[in-house]
Amino acid sequence: MDHFDYKNGALAAEDMPISDIAEAIGTPFYCYSTATIERHYRVFEEALAGLPATICYAVKANSNVAVIKTLADLGAGADVVSSGELTRALKAGVPASKIIFSGVGKTRDELTHALKENILQINVESEPELQVLNEIAGSMGITAPVAFRINPDIDAHTHNKISTGRSEDKFGIEWTRIHEVVKAANSLSHIENVGLAMHIGSQLTELEPFRDAFIRLKDVVTILRADGHKIPRLDLGGGLGIPYDTATTPSPAEYGKVVAEILGDLDADFLFEPGRLIVGNAGILVTSIVYAKEGATRRFLILDAAMNDLMRPSLYEAKHDIMPVSEPNSGANLERVNVVGPVCETSDTFATELDLPSAEAGDLLAIRSAGAYGAVMASTYNSRALIPEVLVKGDAYSIIRERIEPDTLIKYENLPNWNS
Ligand code: LLP
Repeated sequence: MDHFDYKNGALAAEDMPISDIAEAIGTPFYCYSTATIERHYRVFEEALAGLPATICYAVKANSNVAVIKTLADLGAGADVVSSGELTRALKAGVPASKIIFSGVGKTRDELTHALKENILQINVESEPELQVLNEIAGSMGITAPVAFRINPDIDAHTHNKISTGRSEDKFGIEWTRIHEVVKAANSLSHIENVGLAMHIGSQLTELEPFRDAFIRLKDVVTILRADGHKIPRLDLGGGLGIPYDTATTPSPAEYGKVVAEILGDLDADFLFEPGRLIVGNAGILVTSIVYAKEGATRRFLILDAAMNDLMRPSLYEAKHDIMPVSEPNSGANLERVNVVGPVCETSDTFATELDLPSAEAGDLLAIRSAGAYGAVMASTYNSRALIPEVLVKGDAYSIIRERIEPDTLIKYENLPNWNS
């Protein structure tokens, strides 16, 4: 459930009419709903109520400081994957004691940053990384709190590009070798083993892969504990999907039940790293139709938003619902259209053969479920601006990131000295 509904004939985010924001700041822009973010966080929290759990929001899904702060105010921790995300999480007020650092290629600088900030845990994904971390922690005279990320070799049954738990994926340490690695880590004097971590993919729409992966994790924990390793903490990653178009997804409550059923008796503390589930449906991309064009075989609605603003359709063939900002009359005429952006390639397509109420140039559309992996993945391709982000609360809105114009970016470019 989200808080983007028609009110008095027009789409509103909570009690704020979308067209008022569009009039004030222009399009395109991202618009997020505070109540939706808060609701999704609470639903996930309730789903885990019986477990000793900390929710570390996966900042990569939407890293705007105002969004992170909204969650930090509810008690969320953060899962970060770069120094930049760590800086953002701290700026948003997430305590270091609730921050996890994940990622397959953390640099020495990033590991040093994480150790300096004294964060909760660093999820190590390889033996070379473990060696480097031990060396850096040693040079700082401290011990690094490490969770070993296992690769359970489980197919998450999601899009190939966001599957991370198969043996051929670059992530984690293969589950059959984890015992050996944990044992060897015992002899590293600046590594403290705080547990195991796992994340098998994103936008999972079935519980079975989670179930299979948790069973494998439990086997590994049992073997390690029998060998005297404590394994006090289990980080179960993120990955629970959201309904983008018509697909149904398991509820957080069902997911929580599976966790409790399989891992609940392990006497461990749990960490979770949800991203999309918290913010995905809490955001829309608001755009105007620049032209309605009759092609040879199709009618095209050409938007002022493009693939550089929202990459998901072109990158993962993702289908986001699209709705008019002005509420159509019941029984309004539907037209079959392709909804496209202005960028000079055919992958700049948001929807193909979509039945939409008749729309014309100047009309506003909302591309839904754009709160996760939307603004964060935007680029300036075709020298387009980075578009604004707006956060709504009740009947108020705030611009939480300004539009960044090409002029600003061009200022960072220099002619080589042989040209000046
Ligand atoms: N933890 C780790 C270690 C991750 O790699 C990810 C996502 C998450 C947590 C959060 O997963 P979530 O709960 O959001 O599914 N750009 C893609 C998604 C990439 C996900 C990368 N890792 C998309 O737009 O679908």
